[in-house]
Amino acid sequence: MNKKSVRDVALSGKRVLMRADFNVPLQDGTISDDTRIRAALPTIEYILEHGASLVLMSHLGRPKGQVKPELSLKPVAARLSELLGRAVQMAPDCVGPEVKAMAESLRPGEVLLLENTRFHAEEKKNDPEFARQLAELGDLFVNDAFGTAHRAHASTEGVTHYLPSVAGFLIEKEIAFLGRATGDPERPYLVLLGGSKISGKIAVINNLLGKADKLLIGGGMANTFFKAQGLPVGDSLVEDDALPLANDLLAKAGDKLVLPVDVVIADAFAPDAATQTVPVDQVPDGWRILDIGPQTVAHYRELLSQAKTVVWNGPMGVFEMPAFAKGTFAIAQVLAELDAVTIIGGGDSASAVKLAGVTDKVSHVSTGGGASLEFLEGKTLPGIAALDDKE
Ligand code: 3PG
Repeated sequence: MNKKSVRDVALSGKRVLMRADFNVPLQDGTISDDTRIRAALPTIEYILEHGASLVLMSHLGRPKGQVKPELSLKPVAARLSELLGRAVQMAPDCVGPEVKAMAESLRPGEVLLLENTRFHAEEKKNDPEFARQLAELGDLFVNDAFGTAHRAHASTEGVTHYLPSVAGFLIEKEIAFLGRATGDPERPYLVLLGGSKISGKIAVINNLLGKADKLLIGGGMANTFFKAQGLPVGDSLVEDDALPLANDLLAKAGDKLVLPVDVVIADAFAPDAATQTVPVDQVPDGWRILDIGPQTVAHYRELLSQAKTVVWNGPMGVFEMPAFAKGTFAIAQVLAELDAVTIIGGGDSASAVKLAGVTDKVSHVSTGGGASLEFLEGKTLPGIAALDDKE
């Protein structure tokens, strides 16, 4: 990465303003997955150990510019304090005189977490005056919010106009891994794409078709390809609008694009529906495809066993329901056993790998859902582009 990192700047005696992605799932006010908080720890600890004080900021959820107490970052302050083993002060807001005074009174090694930046509509508008007020809270800016790097908001992009701005270790690591997938991967390079819709993945398919040796398809998006090929799909989810596009991709990709050979079908979209496994050309009326079948898993395993680089984005079936999770979990297991660089896109694929218990057995699980997808599409992420270039 040609961007400066936190290693390239003097930190001692400085007050660092750091953007993290603490947009964590909450259930009744309790954090149900603290992965994103843990992922920010190396940068936080490095900054504190190098004699700086730290002002942290993040968004949480989509409060639409309103103060929503249920989207307060207070639970994050508590969890972060436990993980760091030191106090984390919680600010009542992210800008204003009181917050400024709190930031200014920080001593080296002390941490202040600002309240949800999205409680202000100016955050998403990337309002320059709001960004300037945030920037006033630090001497330099460290962005480690990979999960929000695809958003040009005041706390990700706006502040860089007012402060020296560098990347944290998480952003560095994400770019190092995801960059292999879009740059010069060791081959064979295979991409596994799933999820429900082709329409959300067109740009990824187009970008990766030119780079990968094979694209293995699963999940609901396979149905649209099946229908485009004239196969019966019963009541399966199909994007009829995307049929011409599916046809174009099939023609363009040739044998680079690999589709399932068998599928698990159900007579209803329900956890207790009747199920059967059938070849893809034998889906009866009234049934819907909800997972890939065992022969597909075997075929994909064989193809993947040759790979030196694998990227996976999107589940192979409706893995939230145990009856339709086997394909996704079997693929997670295959990846865990490969002697290859295995990169998991964030969001659903990251949850699937976690539920399958193999997070530690793959090379990298991205903390960014939308951000990793946009990166794989070949797009520039504004939160990273805005950081200072290495000299
Ligand atoms: C995410 O969870 O993908 C990021 O935190 C960005 O959140 P957003 O989609 O609400 O901008």
